[in-house]
Amino acid sequence: MSNVNPMPKEEGLDHTLSLAREGYLYIPNRRHSFNSNIFETRLLGKKAICMGGKEAAELFYDEEKFMRQGAAPNRVLQTLFGAKGVQTLDGADHKHRKEMFMALMSQEGIKDLINLTRNEWESAIAKWEDMDEVVLYEEVQEILCRAACGWAGVPIQEDEIQARTKEFGSLFESVAAIGPNHWLGRAARNNIERWISGLVEEVRNNKLNPPENTALHQFSWHRDATGNLLDAEVVAVEVVNIIRPIVAIAIFINFTALAIHQYPEEKVKLQSSDQKYTEMFVQEIRRFYPFFPLVAARVKKDFIWNGYKFDVGTLTLLDLYGTNHDPTIWDNPDLFNPERFSEWDGGRYSFIPQGGGEYHSGHRCPGEWITVEVMKAVVDQLINQMEFEVPEQDLSFSLVNMPSIPASKFVINHVKKK
Ligand code: HEM
Repeated sequence: MSNVNPMPKEEGLDHTLSLAREGYLYIPNRRHSFNSNIFETRLLGKKAICMGGKEAAELFYDEEKFMRQGAAPNRVLQTLFGAKGVQTLDGADHKHRKEMFMALMSQEGIKDLINLTRNEWESAIAKWEDMDEVVLYEEVQEILCRAACGWAGVPIQEDEIQARTKEFGSLFESVAAIGPNHWLGRAARNNIERWISGLVEEVRNNKLNPPENTALHQFSWHRDATGNLLDAEVVAVEVVNIIRPIVAIAIFINFTALAIHQYPEEKVKLQSSDQKYTEMFVQEIRRFYPFFPLVAARVKKDFIWNGYKFDVGTLTLLDLYGTNHDPTIWDNPDLFNPERFSEWDGGRYSFIPQGGGEYHSGHRCPGEWITVEVMKAVVDQLINQMEFEVPEQDLSFSLVNMPSIPASKFVINHVKKK
């Protein structure tokens, strides 16, 4: 044990409030002031480790060293994740469940979702032409909720679409909220899970027959590693794990609209360039703007890394936002510059807005390709398929509130189909 060094440590009884107060910058601020990519702190009354950067990400995704069981706080399970979903599993159980998700992510499957999204967007343009003012964030959530339910095989009536969209939105908007907004998220999860569990029962009783390639069909008939069907409640959690994050792409789309507005030179480039540039632009949106600040795991067994001791059970947070803004990885990280992706090496641990590591064997987001493709389709809609104006409004966004969304939620008017 002679080569063990004390980890830089934030003194004090508990820093949960500082995390809430500093949001996306809580870990980056301390990595900077300690001049260390790793430090010890206290969160939720217990010792915790925070780390960021490429090497830390590589360590964090080593499944021999970290596990997800018991890592997510209750408020996250009750809103964002749901109980017993893929996020909470480890080892062989996780891998088996993860395959269920990855099986939906074929090129064909993704194309179907893009077509649904394009169709919904085009219908929405026709509606927006008659509106005095369009709050893009809310409208895009509805477009994505319609497309996601269609793609997942979940029937949804016209008169329930607005309420369901709000419920899905509140699952990711309420995670870090305090008071009533947080409780709205919990209530939304109960409602949505009850609704989708009911549909799973109908599928199993042959009262509902969603197409075979949909999440509702696949997940309802999925068998776990021991050959048993999943509980209907768990299927519901996993179907929500498809629809909720597709609705959440509305956040990246709000930032896409913001970037096109605030960097007019980018609009010109997007109009005159090929798909390659659109992809670089979308990647830079995902790197530059805040979305998920961090991911959490627990130390699986005692080990020493770079001279620092990790004790079994210790909560460990990986800095996603800070790694995407790490000056040792990115030149001028606070500059919006899609060109940086023309020579990007595709590193699995340096560009991690949706987690790092492997899709099939690790916890990396299975929806990353979908997210990129939906965003590319939306760039085309915003740039080539419609005209609009952006009235005076508060377009600032916070690096404290999680998730961050431009204050006005991006209002547009005078919409016209091109
Ligand atoms: C809206 C943009 C999105 C962002 C910012 C995002 C971000 C993330 C992050 C940070 C993780 C955690 C990675 C980890 O635990 O190491 C994750 C996991 C996950 N995401 Fe996404 N995601 C997005 C879109 C999607 C989409 C479109 C889907 C599905 C259609 C999806 C489904 C999931 C699932 C099921 C997991 C859990 C994976 C596992 O634990 O193995 N996400 N995502």
